[in-house]
Amino acid sequence: MHKIKQSIKIGNLKLDGRILLPSVATYQCDEAGLVTGKVCEYYGERAKNSHISLIITEHSFIAQQGKAKKNQMSIADDTCIVGLRRLVNAIHGSGAKVFAQINHAGSAAPQEVSLMKPVAPSPVILPVEPPLGDGCIPNELSANEIQQIVTAFANAARRAKDAGYDGVEIHSAHSYLLNQFYSPLTNHRTDEYGGSLQNRLRIHTEVINAVRKEVGHDYPISVRLGGCDYMEGGSTIEDSVIAAKLFEQESVNVLNISGGMCRYTRKGHNEPGYFKDMSSAIKKAVHIPVIVTGGVKTLIDAENLLNEQAADLIGVGRSLLKDPKWEEK
Ligand SMILES: Cc1cc2nc3c(=O)[nH]c(=O)nc-3n(C[C@H](O)[C@H](O)[C@H](O)COP(=O)(O)O)c2cc1C
Repeated sequence: MHKIKQSIKIGNLKLDGRILLPSVATYQCDEAGLVTGKVCEYYGERAKNSHISLIITEHSFIAQQGKAKKNQMSIADDTCIVGLRRLVNAIHGSGAKVFAQINHAGSAAPQEVSLMKPVAPSPVILPVEPPLGDGCIPNELSANEIQQIVTAFANAARRAKDAGYDGVEIHSAHSYLLNQFYSPLTNHRTDEYGGSLQNRLRIHTEVINAVRKEVGHDYPISVRLGGCDYMEGGSTIEDSVIAAKLFEQESVNVLNISGGMCRYTRKGHNEPGYFKDMSSAIKKAVHIPVIVTGGVKTLIDAENLLNEQAADLIGVGRSLLKDPKWEEK
């Protein structure tokens, strides 16, 4: 049997295959971030693809201050739940399982979108190309504000569970808020949330524990880890292995590996699984499943990555964005 067809368990959730659609934002919600018919149709089409066992829906903002884009999906208050339930049903109806991705954009939230001054671990501009956010220097979060964000993540996870999602993914990649805490390029704090790697991962531990408390012990939690910045002075693969082991210890059920301040691409790399140096190192260090995404264009690419032990599950983003019937013909 081909590896891509083998089932796998994430916690107690069984997936019938190793290929998933990772979060790929389409920004087709209404102005408040509520799910529209267009959104349900888009995901329903992709869930019909027989290779896809799991869909992780696009990053949804957990609080207005962390809203990254106009028409981004919201999971910031209970009025969202009805629409999210419709979306979940559209995906389940086509046979795939579904996780919600919950996010706070931090300094990548433009003021004209969030209507609030952006916040971040430290008052620094993101070192990303092309620039994200509106380029203004964010306010440094106080310890009290950090606690409010932790609670907002937990509330968002509770809404995902209420809406019928099979699991929840905490976004800590692609230069958004949790990634800003993790990366030494954007975290210059001198309190217990900055400095050592352990301190830079403190908010992650708090978020994971708060989410776990809200959703119960049996509900799958994923972390999308932008584990390496691939930049001078940035986070490293060694850091990502330490983070992965910590998250496993803190009850995370699956790790979804991607880039940090380099976001979801990697300069000079276009090969299938261009983050596999990181995912392979992490896979060796943990017992929970590992997902790698980036550059996969065919089923053969995915099969090869599984055979190489680069990961346990393979994400296919842009190919499925372009064509819901990817590799079905
Ligand atoms: C238009 C677009 C939107 C994306 N939105 C998200 C997102 O909401 N959350 C996330 O974690 N990654 C997001 N990504 C990254 C993808 O999940 C994926 O990692 C990336 O496209 C690389 O995989 P691929 O080569 O298969 O496309 C996005 C990528 C694209 C192209």
